Amino acid sequence: MFTPNAYGLFSMPTLETERLILRRITMRDAKDIFAYSKDPEVARHVLWSAQKELGEAKDYCRFMLRRYHHDQPSSWGIIEKATNRLVGTIGYMDYNEDNNSVEIGYSLARWLWNGGYMTEALRRVIEYTFTAMDINRIEAQHEITNPSSGRVMEKCGMTREGILRQRLFNKGKYVDVVLYAILQSDFDKMKDGK
Ligand SMILES: CC(C)(COP(=O)(O)OP(=O)(O)OC[C@H]1O[C@@H](n2cnc3c(N)ncnc32)[C@H](O)[C@@H]1OP(=O)(O)O)[C@@H](O)C(=O)NCCC(=O)NCCS
Repeated sequence: MFTPNAYGLFSMPTLETERLILRRITMRDAKDIFAYSKDPEVARHVLWSAQKELGEAKDYCRFMLRRYHHDQPSSWGIIEKATNRLVGTIGYMDYNEDNNSVEIGYSLARWLWNGGYMTEALRRVIEYTFTAMDINRIEAQHEITNPSSGRVMEKCGMTREGILRQRLFNKGKYVDVVLYAILQSDFDKMKDGK
C-alpha cells in the first residue's frame, strides 16, 4: 500500500489492545462510520452533526485520507476485534509544533458505550504518543454536560485542569468545556508505578 508519510510525525501505524485494533481509515469503512454517526446521541457533544446520508461518511473518509497523505493530525479507526467492524474513531485534533503538544478527540458507537472501550483506546494512544512521538503534553476537552468523556480522560491518568467558559459554539449555543491534560513526566511516573 502507498503510505507517503510512513515516517512522518502522524504516520498513524496500526496499534492493538485486548479488544481493539486502531488503524488508518479507508474508503471501505464509510458504511460502518455511517452506522453510528447517524445517531444524534453520538453527535450531541462533538463538533460535527449527525450524518444524514452515506455520502457524508464517504466525505469524512476522503478528508482523513488527505490528512494521512499530508502528514497532518488525523484519526485512527477503532475496530472491534469481535466483529471486525469499525465502531469509532480516536486521534489528533490539533498539533502545536512550538510547544510539542497535541489535542486528542474520539467518538464511539452508542451500542458499545460504558464497556470500557474508549478508555482502552485512549490508554493505547497516550502510550503510543509518549513513546513514539516527540510530544510533551496531550490535551483533551469535553463539554461540561458530557461527563462520561471526562471519566475516560480521568481513568487514563489525565489531570482536570479547569473549565473554559463558553469556549465552543456548538449546535447553536456557547458551551463550557473542561480541559484535561497529561504530560510526558506524568506518563513516566505512571509507568514507573509512582
Ligand atoms: C464519551 C465516550 C467516548 C465514552 O466512551 P466509553 O467507551 O463509553 O467510555 P468507557 O466505558 O471507557 O468509560 C465511561 C465512563 O463514564 C461513566 N459514565 C457514564 N455516564 C456518566 C455520567 N452521566 N456521569 C458520569 N460518568 C458517567 C461510566 O460509568 C464509565 O466510568 P466507570 O468505568 O468508572 O464506570 C462515548 O460515550 C462517546 O463516544 N460519546 C459520543 C461522542 C463523544 O461525546 N465524544 C467525546 C467528545 S469530548
